[in-house]
Amino acid sequence: MNDWSGRTAVITGAGSGIGRALAAACAARGMRLVLADLQRPALEETAELAGQADALLCITDVSDAQAVEVLAQRTFEATGDAALLFNNAGVLASGPAWKLSPQDWTWILGVNLMGVVHGIRSFVPRMREQGRAARVVNTASGAGLTAVPGGGAYCASKHAVVALSECLYHDLRMQACPIGVSVVCPSYVNTGIAASEQYRPAALHNDIPLKGPSEDRLDRTFRRAKLGANEVAQIVLQGIDDDAFYILPHPEIMGRVQARFGQIECGGPPQDIA
Ligand SMILES: NC(=O)c1ccc[n+]([C@@H]2O[C@H](COP(=O)([O-])OP(=O)(O)OC[C@H]3O[C@@H](n4cnc5c(N)ncnc54)[C@H](O)[C@@H]3O)[C@@H](O)[C@H]2O)c1
Repeated sequence: MNDWSGRTAVITGAGSGIGRALAAACAARGMRLVLADLQRPALEETAELAGQADALLCITDVSDAQAVEVLAQRTFEATGDAALLFNNAGVLASGPAWKLSPQDWTWILGVNLMGVVHGIRSFVPRMREQGRAARVVNTASGAGLTAVPGGGAYCASKHAVVALSECLYHDLRMQACPIGVSVVCPSYVNTGIAASEQYRPAALHNDIPLKGPSEDRLDRTFRRAKLGANEVAQIVLQGIDDDAFYILPHPEIMGRVQARFGQIECGGPPQDIA
């Protein structure tokens, strides 16, 4: 088990939900924080909640490769270190696959998938150079192991993050590189994710608004979730301690994952979950 105290944790999407909880959990373990998100006030609130007034706060749109490169530069200039990289920022939009617009796809894949890609591209070479224990922790979802109606873009992005994390693991092992990888696949967590639309850039707004479940209905689903962000953050840090690759805060989703593989084996259609 690595002792991460005194080392640096970089967290994207740190202004809310799971990212904020990860910040508090890492600070409680004596880590220095580099917090990235779209809005400074949210980051300031996270730093305060984590009790780390001198955390490095970086306004970063993770869908922008150059912005993530600047995040990596600033991290290494300020702390010379990135021990834990949490590629956590993510957004949600849902609707029937044929109704998701090109803007929906660009936004969801840009944040949820390309945000992780950019994090890997900007940080892993620097983590390799530093020659110390380090780990990339990507937030996927249970939606990266199963698929649900309306989840065309979201599930595609999260399946891609699971596959990307597995490939990254292989790539690092092939080069005998001592950087660990984990992929976190939670089911519903009580966070603000139902209000993701507020983070959609103006250039990617739909001419005709997407008709998925209303924000209110989604919000009630997430707010009723059994696990809160703090509990998920503790499970994630325990998974890191255990050198776990797949971290499933809701092990009960395995029934649906196994049912999916059963259907793949027998050539059946996706399990009916309606
Ligand atoms: N809440 C759940 O039930 C759940 C379940 C499975 C997976 N997840 C995943 O967990 C991660 C965290 O989500 P959450 O539930 O804490 O949601 P949240 O909405 O509470 O937090 C997401 C954060 O990401 C930030 N963000 C959005 N777009 C960004 C961008 N382009 N660049 C940088 N930051 C951006 C937001 O400002 C926000 O602070 C996401 O990847 C999400 O897909 C959430």
